Amino acid sequence: MSLRTGFYPARVHEQRFTVGFEYPVVFCRAAFRLEEQTLAWAIAHREPERRHPVYAVIDAGLSDAQPELKARIVAYAAEHSASLELVAAPHELPGGEAAKNDPELVRKLWQAFARARLDRHAVVLAIGGGAVLDAVGFAAATTHRGVRLVRMPSTVLSQNDAGVGVKTSLNGFGAKNFVGTFTPPFAVVNDADLLATLPLREARAGLAEAVKVGLIRDSEFFAWLEANAAALGRAESAPLERAIQRCAELHLRHIASGGDPFESGSKRPLDYGHWAAHKLETLSEHGIRHGEAVAIGMALDAKYAELSGLLSTSALGRIVNVLERIGLALYHPLLSAESEGRLAILQGLQEFREHLGGTLTVTLLTDVGASREVSELDERVVAAAIAWLRDRAGA
Ligand SMILES: NC(=O)c1ccc[n+]([C@@H]2O[C@H](COP(=O)([O-])OP(=O)(O)OC[C@H]3O[C@@H](n4cnc5c(N)ncnc54)[C@H](O)[C@@H]3O)[C@@H](O)[C@H]2O)c1
Ligand SMILES: [Zn+2]
Repeated sequence: MSLRTGFYPARVHEQRFTVGFEYPVVFCRAAFRLEEQTLAWAIAHREPERRHPVYAVIDAGLSDAQPELKARIVAYAAEHSASLELVAAPHELPGGEAAKNDPELVRKLWQAFARARLDRHAVVLAIGGGAVLDAVGFAAATTHRGVRLVRMPSTVLSQNDAGVGVKTSLNGFGAKNFVGTFTPPFAVVNDADLLATLPLREARAGLAEAVKVGLIRDSEFFAWLEANAAALGRAESAPLERAIQRCAELHLRHIASGGDPFESGSKRPLDYGHWAAHKLETLSEHGIRHGEAVAIGMALDAKYAELSGLLSTSALGRIVNVLERIGLALYHPLLSAESEGRLAILQGLQEFREHLGGTLTVTLLTDVGASREVSELDERVVAAAIAWLRDRAGA
């Protein structure tokens, strides 16, 4: 039986309210230098008179690369003891997807938060890459239904994307980000100095997200990325910082003004290139970095758009060129892997739809800075786009 047109239950209370969110996203340097106030402010800005219990969690990959960091956090807290108090020694979490793949790590965080008697006004300070921020964010969001989270992203990708937004997540049951929440942070502190030890491969991967927001939202920024691609590919600090700030700004603006901060609709323009990217990450068992997979996914969807007559060949050329000049590969053998007689990557479309909810909505470019949504992709055209990427790569 289908619903009668115009049906409305006899007794309904239409419950409706809105909740405002605000959080500062700061760009700075040397946040742990003792005389710097920024981090103390980020923790205490809402009640500056009070001393705030802080539980610090640090990405083990970051603390391996910067072995003095834990001691610096402890010294900083001692110096700013009027505003904050470390309630335990900094807690290390494995870096990268390992942080999101093992639910036991989240259980240990909950246990540690319980032992430290964190209340909802205490602060969890998460320092690390996007994966650690996602996992710690999830643990904080689900402790007492939400403990304050201050993020200090330490990779290009987390400073320009993952760390500034409103999502937390874990991987599970074969899918990226299967578990998670929409929970805005309490504050974000992007310290450019944290990037000093980031491997070049990671910096380049993070730049893929900058190319993405340029392509979807800001053709001028895209042109700037083209002009600076070689320097960005070497992770030179001045252009890198500028790219990070602009990319973060565009993400923040999309969350605040895009009309769907918690992604209840099916449209996800900033997930351009991500249907294939998420599947590639899973197929490679996370051997491919998120940003690297996004670069491949964007090139694939750009070629698809060109083959479908939506995008000009010259715009396609600009897109693949800028990604390659940054140092990103645009083909991976797993793109051509088959499962049950079909390209395995295509399973990513179904998973993407499930993740969005509702109908499949894939963003395709019509130009640099302009796009449209489609609700299906032609498998033969996807295969042709993959063949083109493979031939170009000489694979
Ligand atoms: N929540 C969101 O909105 C959102 C958005 C985009 C991506 N993500 C997620 O972010 C994750 C990717 O994050 P990422 O690209 O930041 O990589 P990552 O978190 O996987 O970190 C990459 C590696 O760098 C190490 N590392 C971190 N900082 C370092 C530093 N300064 N020096 C040396 N090593 C350092 C880590 O230990 C890890 O080994 C993915 O899980 C992705 O799904 C989340
Ligand atoms: Zn992404």
